[in-house]
Amino acid sequence: MLATSAILALAGLVPVLLAAPADDVVARGGGINMVDACHQQYGNTWAAARSGSGKYDWYCVNSTNGNTGGIDLNAYCMRTYGGGSQAGNNGGLWDWYCT
Ligand SMILES: *[C@@H]1O[C@H](CO)[C@@H](O)[C@H](O)[C@H]1NC(C)=O
Repeated sequence: MLATSAILALAGLVPVLLAAPADDVVARGGGINMVDACHQQYGNTWAAARSGSGKYDWYCVNSTNGNTGGIDLNAYCMRTYGGGSQAGNNGGLWDWYCT
């Protein structure tokens, strides 16, 4: 389940820091911040966007030139929560999490 702060961050496209440090495998697991995922993957000029209401409709967009790219959520989970973490989904657009 996403933390309220993560949901607000997704809705407002405002980045927040996740509580778990990257190397703390004991505390791994939690919500996915799509903005943070785009920043990690492409750089800080990128934002999260969505093309529809399905769980696979997230993508990243470079706000300075309009380029777009997919989000690698497994890479985000590994970087954020440790090597064994993977992305999972409970059904919908807002239901992504890291194991
Ligand atoms: C994002 O756009 C800027 C401006 O065109 C460009 O300099 C930068 O390389 C782009 N970033 C990526 C990762 O493509």
